[in-house]
Amino acid sequence: LNVLSVASEVFPIIKTGGLADVAGALPSALAEEGVTVVTLMPGYPAVLNALENAETLHQYPAFFGGTARLLSGRAGGLDLFVIDAPHLFERPGSPYLAPNGRDWPDNARRFAALGRAAADIGQGLVPGFIPDIVHAHDWQAALVPVYLSLTGQPRPGTVVTIHNIAFQGIFPADLLFELGLPASIFTVDGVEYYGQIGFLKGGLQLADRITTVSPTYAKEIQTPEGGMALDGLLRARSGIVSGILNGIDDKVWDPATDQHLALTYDRGSLERRAANKRALQDRLGLKPDPDALLFGVVSRLSEQKGLDLVLAGLSRLLSEGAQLALLGAGDRTLEESFQTARVVYPGQVGCVIGYDEKLAHQIQGGSDALLVPSRFEPCGLTQLCAMRYGSIPVVSRVGGLADTIIDANEMAIANGAATGFQFGPVTFGAALDAIDRVKHLWRDKDAWHRLQANGMGADLSWHRPARQYADLYRSLRAV
Ligand code: ADP
Ligand code: GLC
Repeated sequence: LNVLSVASEVFPIIKTGGLADVAGALPSALAEEGVTVVTLMPGYPAVLNALENAETLHQYPAFFGGTARLLSGRAGGLDLFVIDAPHLFERPGSPYLAPNGRDWPDNARRFAALGRAAADIGQGLVPGFIPDIVHAHDWQAALVPVYLSLTGQPRPGTVVTIHNIAFQGIFPADLLFELGLPASIFTVDGVEYYGQIGFLKGGLQLADRITTVSPTYAKEIQTPEGGMALDGLLRARSGIVSGILNGIDDKVWDPATDQHLALTYDRGSLERRAANKRALQDRLGLKPDPDALLFGVVSRLSEQKGLDLVLAGLSRLLSEGAQLALLGAGDRTLEESFQTARVVYPGQVGCVIGYDEKLAHQIQGGSDALLVPSRFEPCGLTQLCAMRYGSIPVVSRVGGLADTIIDANEMAIANGAATGFQFGPVTFGAALDAIDRVKHLWRDKDAWHRLQANGMGADLSWHRPARQYADLYRSLRAV
């Protein structure tokens, strides 16, 4: 079974968030299920620089305003197709944002190009690789089913995965012809979305299957509260919507071999974690106290992630000598607030504003608990990494957080199932109650260790999800 995976970011080549982790890890897990995956991505400088054994498969004389080539090659352990279109992608830095922090003004064209090239490959552009299924991730790839719907049979089956319905790719209607879309597709059954062009909307309307990254989020996006105006469409198509939980790459995230850690450890040598806590305290200017309860955060700083609740409850969080180690970037106001908190609570709050892969691992390996108080969370990966690293996740009861963490209530502690703390609703009061419960359990070291051991023993790998995707692809091919 051949699958073309289409994504705008892929770890370890270029990453802004969990989408890259998923797009980077799923192909090799699928290989074990007998599925051959090639990944199509834009030729940003980071991609072209990493590409080995590059070969030109096709030349486009005119492709969304310039010439382009379709390349094949390998990078980051993945088989890739890359769109080398300098007029669209030869821009350093973020895949989406200009240096001024705003979306590139031509993002509609840039990611329509991604969908177009994928559809061409789906139609046989590369004779050596005819996909049975094209799997498009998020709005940036979501025009694939739209372009494929405009061509004749046979065509591959299409899957669109929603990693975050808050990002939909909505653009002015007058771009229609520039994107190579006929007027006939600008309808409620196509890409039309409240008078504009909706990339995700069109993809969801025309995909053969829709998935999202947790069962709970699959339900949430079918409600007016969680659907961000696409809930009606999703309810109408609910028969083809499913939730498949993400895994984590258990080679990248393994405390027993992690080269970013001061000292590696596993479930049987948890006492070695203390060295990582100490190193983290040193790195972030925190008081070197082994008994201080150290909370960690590794997150984009955005409304979604609920970290304003942490700021609002900071004095209570830090009571009894507790500490906070935060790594994050995004919203300017939140960035500044955490910087200020570091000054206000010297030795108790440490933060690094920016993107730092190494420090992300060190916070997982050195913190005692990891805070994920998201307002919504399609899946969430940092709570899974925390479990694997023996940091206790403290999460809101939404989306994939609800599906992956078993709350440490009395019964779950007694029967050895508990892996973390959940709170709901996502309010200041509920978050603080959870913090109090964490502090209470921290005093009971045996119970704390049991929670750590439960999390570290859980199967968080891609094996099960990869099987579910493989089954989905096979069910679709049989249609
Ligand atoms: P989202 O995709 O919504 O940002 P996820 O939890 O699914 O949330 O994935 C976030 C990924 O990005 C994780 O791999 C996490 O370690 C990483 N990450 C987030 N913020 C940073 C940062 N500032 N520096 C390094 N890695 C980060
Ligand atoms: C999105 C979501 C996150 C999810 C990730 C990977 O960025 O915000 O919850 O884990 O995609 O699917």
